[in-house]
Amino acid sequence: MSQLSLVLVLTLALIPSQWSWGIRKIDGIYAQPSEMNYAPPRWNVPAMYIFGDSTADSGNNNELRTIARANFPPYGRDFDSRHASGRFSNGKMTSDWINDLLRLPLAPPYLSRESRMFPFQGANFASAGAGILNNTGNVLGEKISGWQQIELFLERRNGLIATMGVDAASKHLRDSILYFATGGNDYIHNWITNDTDAALLPNNEFNTLLLTTFENQLQVLYYAGARKAAVLGIGPVGCAPHFLWQTNTTTGDCLESVNEYVSEFNDGLREMLVRFNQQNRGAHFEYRDCFDVIYRMVKFPFNYGFSNGNTACCGVGNYGGGDRCLSPMMVCDNPPLNFWWDEYHPSHLANNFVARQLWSGVDPSTTTRNSTSTALYSFLTIQQLAALQLTGD
Ligand SMILES: *[C@@H]1O[C@H](CO)[C@@H](O)[C@H](O)[C@H]1NC(C)=O
Ligand SMILES: *[C@@H]1O[C@H](CO)[C@@H](O)[C@H](O)[C@H]1NC(C)=O
Ligand SMILES: *[C@@H]1O[C@H](CO)[C@@H](O)[C@H](O)[C@H]1NC(C)=O
Ligand SMILES: *[C@@H]1O[C@H](CO)[C@@H](O)[C@H](O)[C@H]1NC(C)=O
Repeated sequence: MSQLSLVLVLTLALIPSQWSWGIRKIDGIYAQPSEMNYAPPRWNVPAMYIFGDSTADSGNNNELRTIARANFPPYGRDFDSRHASGRFSNGKMTSDWINDLLRLPLAPPYLSRESRMFPFQGANFASAGAGILNNTGNVLGEKISGWQQIELFLERRNGLIATMGVDAASKHLRDSILYFATGGNDYIHNWITNDTDAALLPNNEFNTLLLTTFENQLQVLYYAGARKAAVLGIGPVGCAPHFLWQTNTTTGDCLESVNEYVSEFNDGLREMLVRFNQQNRGAHFEYRDCFDVIYRMVKFPFNYGFSNGNTACCGVGNYGGGDRCLSPMMVCDNPPLNFWWDEYHPSHLANNFVARQLWSGVDPSTTTRNSTSTALYSFLTIQQLAALQLTGD
């Protein structure tokens, strides 16, 4: 690359594609994370690297042959641009709101042209249908599996080293925040549906397989220079409209057996991360809980301004959980009032509440004890992670 084009790329990279400061009106929704109303401290975070499933995919699956796609209306109807970008939301996903809180331009989907044009803006590797295990989500079609997402990160890292030099690239990666929203599909599109051999394992062994695989993935990223990571637990997927429809409940109650499986995963994930941070010098891989905040919202939707916590705004059948959101005709009358956008995914506004919890919320489940010690560990919030000044280790 010539000097001039490098300067051009760098200059363009410094102009964020969308600023989101202050209060913004989105189709009748006033998005008001309290933190956004104040003059920004400049977080010590140059970029975000996003890994995971449909709760974080910002358009990678548009490029793949799969039914797990959301690049058609009414998806995106409440997004800034009204564009159906591929996000499984009527507007923003939780990871987008975190991007905003960090005052960074949205990390482009890695498979997009935009990502090649703006290689210093971080990247989104998430892919709808993907999970921790390679075969999770295979029934839906192509996806970028957990391991493949890591491989693409390493590819980007090589590109950064080639353009920035090894020192600047190392600093960039060390200060960046990695964001993980994965594991849900390993239950939804693998274990529960008996889709693969791994699904034959009893719950505790399947859990262990997920956690050891995930730890190996995180370890590769640590060796590649990552130091700051927000690792989300799995949400209460048993409360998703799909399972309410499937069990044909008359009470609207969550399928608690599924919630128990994912809670066991979350408990194991906390323990794993405590150990991981002890074993890897300088690592700040922090557990962030979204289970409790989502559970509270689906149980007490009125407290959060939602009219209900169990019915998808866009879907068919009881609870709107019988199929995906396929057409604008399926959309409910007042989308902002629904916690759930479709059979599996929370809405724009619901995601804002979740993001604020991940950003600065402290709750009991963010602390844990390891198996041999009674010491209580607390994980850093994403805000604390952002403020952290790291020296090179
Ligand atoms: C998962 O896929 C990766 C390639 O992306 C491969 O290296 C790895 O061996 C696979 N793991 C299993 C258990 O098949
Ligand atoms: C999966 O297998 C288990 C154990 O064999 C069985 O109880 C369950 O009903 C199966 N689930 C589905 C969706 O086929
Ligand atoms: C669901 O329950 C309703 C009434 O409670 C019943 O009429 C309907 O047939 C049930 N549907 C299925 C698919 O079991
Ligand atoms: C648990 O925490 C103690 C105290 O920090 C530490 O010495 C020990 O190695 C930890 N054990 C495990 C299994 O992580």
